[in-house]
Amino acid sequence: MSTANTKTTSPSSFRRMDESNAEQWAEIGAQTAKRQERVATQVLAMLEALGDVTDGFAVDQLRHCLQTATRAEEAGADPEMVVASLCHDIGKYVSVPNHPRIAAEILRPYVRQEIFDVIRTHQDFQGRHYYHHFGGDPDAREKYRGEPWFSLAETFADEFDQNSFDPDYETLPLSHFEPLVREVFAKPTSL
Ligand SMILES: [Fe+2]
Repeated sequence: MSTANTKTTSPSSFRRMDESNAEQWAEIGAQTAKRQERVATQVLAMLEALGDVTDGFAVDQLRHCLQTATRAEEAGADPEMVVASLCHDIGKYVSVPNHPRIAAEILRPYVRQEIFDVIRTHQDFQGRHYYHHFGGDPDAREKYRGEPWFSLAETFADEFDQNSFDPDYETLPLSHFEPLVREVFAKPTSL
């Protein structure tokens, strides 16, 4: 592994955080904000890469994500929900185990709390439709009953996600969703 990258080192910045000052952090904050658009670019690249992941399903994971977002949009979901639907399985870019939480954490600064919770727990809601094949609990979603986002999670899992493995469904392309992805990922509300 290489050491310091001299090309990207700012001479006015610190070598240790415990020697930093407010001015340096203001500069880092400004430069980071200026490059915010790279987040959407990276998310789009990760989605595109899911086109190479099929793993035995009838459609690849990109098409599954696009179909889920298409159904959300057709149902009149708001922009944050459409983008979350598009990105709900983006965690599979890194790892199938724990992919709902990976996706939820990527989305977290850009979507409202209920959408974060829906994506974080979506596999347990999906379980109603297939957990019985592995001896799992098809009622895994029941532990969340009473949560204010429970019915949104049911709509997402039952109407947008679990039925989006259909090669014949008219599915919108990634280019259709790109402006919405750029809009939602342009505005972080937390670090
Ligand atoms: Fe999914």
